[in-house]
Amino acid sequence: MLYDLIIRDALVIDGSDTPGVRADVAISEGRIQRIGSLSDAGARKEIDAAGRVLAPGFIDVHTHDDTVVVRKPEMLPKISQGVTTVIVGNCGISASPVSLSGNPPDPMNLLGDAAAFVYPRFSDYRAAVENARPAVNVAALIGHTALRSNHMDDLLRSASPEEIAAMREQLRDSLEAGALGLSTGLAYASAFSAETSEVKQLAEELSAFGAIYTTHLRSEFEPVLEAMAEAFDIGRHARSPVIISHMKCAGAGNWGRSPQLLAALEKAAQDHPVGCDCYPYAASSSTLDLKQVTDAFRITITWSTPHPDQGGRDLQEIAADWGLSLLDAARKLQPAGAVYYGMDEGDVERIMSHPLTMIGSDGLPEDPFPHPRLWGAFPRVLGHFSRDKGLFALHTAVHKMTGLSAARFALHERGLIREGYWADLVLFNPQTVRDVADFKDPQRAAQGIDGVWVNGRLSYADGKPQGERQGRFLPRSGSLREGFADAKAPT
Ligand code: ZN
Ligand code: CU
Repeated sequence: MLYDLIIRDALVIDGSDTPGVRADVAISEGRIQRIGSLSDAGARKEIDAAGRVLAPGFIDVHTHDDTVVVRKPEMLPKISQGVTTVIVGNCGISASPVSLSGNPPDPMNLLGDAAAFVYPRFSDYRAAVENARPAVNVAALIGHTALRSNHMDDLLRSASPEEIAAMREQLRDSLEAGALGLSTGLAYASAFSAETSEVKQLAEELSAFGAIYTTHLRSEFEPVLEAMAEAFDIGRHARSPVIISHMKCAGAGNWGRSPQLLAALEKAAQDHPVGCDCYPYAASSSTLDLKQVTDAFRITITWSTPHPDQGGRDLQEIAADWGLSLLDAARKLQPAGAVYYGMDEGDVERIMSHPLTMIGSDGLPEDPFPHPRLWGAFPRVLGHFSRDKGLFALHTAVHKMTGLSAARFALHERGLIREGYWADLVLFNPQTVRDVADFKDPQRAAQGIDGVWVNGRLSYADGKPQGERQGRFLPRSGSLREGFADAKAPT
């Protein structure tokens, strides 16, 4: 038997949260064919992987890569980390289904300007992704704010029954075409005025498809527990699983409350499928939000439409230069993007360590001076948090970015190293893997990622893309509810 590829003598960490095992892995026709001691077998290409870890390709469950997968399909920020699948459409914003009448409302502008929104139906977006052949697989959520912007003349109110009916129809059409579920970004002004009942009515569409509800909570500051309760209420009403996006305790007055959040998550998990994702940094990033402007922690500006020269500077310095208050300086900079150093490291570590937590980057690929999570999130968990700080075992780190994520989003035959599964794989050096992107120099590829295969083809190696773009569009492939059945009993 001659395989396409055999990766020999790797420490295989299979994504199931169990320790690695030394083994050979044979790949043909895009799939993992055999795992074991394959001294009897040959291949067209063989790799000696002694001292390296072979893991399932990482699944970035929280991205804003909607338009970049089409516009820059090489997907270097992700493939260079070992990411082989991205889930787009988070935080209430998605590239489709969208028909704009002017500029995209905040925060849809995180996905690009008006020219980026050319997918009136979800099926248009799916076709565009298939045509672009990005380097990574793509699965997609539908954004509540995107639906609102299609049907409402004013986003600063709750939707009318007619508007809700129109949104539901678009959501249903998208779910039929393979979307994973509905996301909201209720903290943003463009969705904050939506009453809980508006979201509940939309979410009623989900259960017939086994689809999921993900949410950037209405608040990540003092009222975060109330916001979590609202999310679980919506999920129970809709009989749909709930994922809390980038779970955090935001704002200096909120630091140290992560045990309360995790207790609320565990309590909800007792009778409903719930989980969360987080990124491994104590700073957040989004559009510049006046409600978050404070002198309690540092804020840096990443971009500004009227003042692009201020990108990369501290808001405090800009305000001092201009002789303005922080708030007036922020107003003058808008529309703009920002990094907020508004979390406590202990909270980040506690949330990341929890068994219900997956890793998602929340990277912002359109940002000219992006938060380093765009290029560094996954190697940072493996290197800094697992190896250097000992926060959890390496196989647990891998599970949080592979097997757990694939189960939750029903990514069929991905996320584990199993015979017959798609060969989405990453080979890395456990001694050297680390993120090098930082807040000063954020667009740098990670170290220690030796090879990345997508659907069986080597797509990244030696610090470079390998000319292959083998990603596929992944339509919803079954009920996402079932991916919570094996949820680990929270400790
Ligand atoms: Zn968000
Ligand atoms: Cu997000």
